[in-house]
Amino acid sequence: MLDILTLGNETLRKKCATIAVFDKKLEDLAVAMIDSMHANDGIGLAGPQVGVEKRLFVCHVPEDEPRIFINPDIIGTSQEISPYEEGCLSIPGVYSEVMRPESITVQAWSLEGKPFKIDAHGILARVIQHEIDHLKGVLFIDHLTEKKRQRIITVYEKRQSKIS
Ligand code: NI
Repeated sequence: MLDILTLGNETLRKKCATIAVFDKKLEDLAVAMIDSMHANDGIGLAGPQVGVEKRLFVCHVPEDEPRIFINPDIIGTSQEISPYEEGCLSIPGVYSEVMRPESITVQAWSLEGKPFKIDAHGILARVIQHEIDHLKGVLFIDHLTEKKRQRIITVYEKRQSKIS
């Protein structure tokens, strides 16, 4: 199982590198990421969260299959913006409403190095946007007002000190 890095780890703030080699190692990594995501009851997991500063993420939303995105880019967004309560395996135990486009078009590459494009709506669009943020070193709390962000970090730190 892969260790999941948490808030404060510098790797979560790195801009990730484009993947150029589509090999067995990449496939093994993606499979391990899906296993770790499932084991932690997550619906998305990005490279930097497991210490890999590369542009890939996996996701698995309800009533869907696990999906793998290599070098993903959002190439279109709906005008409609909606709120959704987000959480993150790297900031466990805290949640906050984030506004994002309701629908997106994403271009990415498969494990076989084949480009594909999908239109995503609702929770899938939400997860994809959250995970692509991770590849730029952006966390969901960065979308909140300074006041809200500070409050959520305080709650998170209190929780962590109780756990450890
Ligand atoms: Ni996250």
